[in-house]
Amino acid sequence: MVVLETNKLNKFYQNNEIKISVLKNISLQFTSHEFCGIVGPSGSGKTTLLYVLSGLEKPSSGDISIFNKKWNEYSLLDIQNIRKKDISFIFQFYNLLPNLTVFENIEIVMMISENYNLDKITEVLEWVGMSKFKDLYPNQLSGGMQQRVAIARALVNHPKIIFADEPTGNLDYQNGLDIMNLLQKIYLEQNITIIMVTHNIDNLKFCSRKISLLDGMVKNDEKNSV
Ligand SMILES: Nc1ncnc2c1ncn2[C@@H]1O[C@H](COP(=O)(O)OP(=O)(O)O)[C@@H](O)[C@H]1O
Ligand SMILES: [Mg+2]
Repeated sequence: MVVLETNKLNKFYQNNEIKISVLKNISLQFTSHEFCGIVGPSGSGKTTLLYVLSGLEKPSSGDISIFNKKWNEYSLLDIQNIRKKDISFIFQFYNLLPNLTVFENIEIVMMISENYNLDKITEVLEWVGMSKFKDLYPNQLSGGMQQRVAIARALVNHPKIIFADEPTGNLDYQNGLDIMNLLQKIYLEQNITIIMVTHNIDNLKFCSRKISLLDGMVKNDEKNSV
């Protein structure tokens, strides 16, 4: 089942007289249950692509459909509900709220989704191996631990799609491997589509699909067995 689809997507930024074309003619389909790694050098348009796919930025031209309807055909209320329940994000710098504990960082997204379930919070903390740190604050954790919490936060509402932007970009080699293994485990055990962008080509071996982006264009798109 297709969950996300783009058709001849283009994105440019216009600063005075200068037009920067960042995404060029991108047509991609993502199905439910895939772990798609999109690789490309710095400046190739990876973050922009993720923002446009997830509706955070509008495309300059072309269509994007999410769950079989174009982003611009959803009402504001529908978009809010999609953001609360159906999609989530993992960022390079974790983006945890510094004044909340590990537990509260996860609890707050459940409160926002109006679907509070204490057992589910306990379960995701266990799943990422962070249960015994639940009362600590982000600044008391290593980067790898913070990213585990961010993964738990992304999972807790059981979204249909997780968008990840350079999830290992700020981690050392071993922590990076641990995080990639955890993302792969999500793919193998849960019915969630993960769309990850990364500049690290080694991360692609964890993915079920590998796409390479160069100068805002798709250069390669292939399946990978994991
Ligand atoms: N708001 C913006 N205004 C102008 N140019 C931008 C903006 N955002 C991104 N760009 C440009 O788009 C290109 C791709 O950026 P980005 O998507 O962040 O690449 P990546 O994530 O692959 O490093 C870069 O050349 C960047 O400078
Ligand atoms: Mg980027």
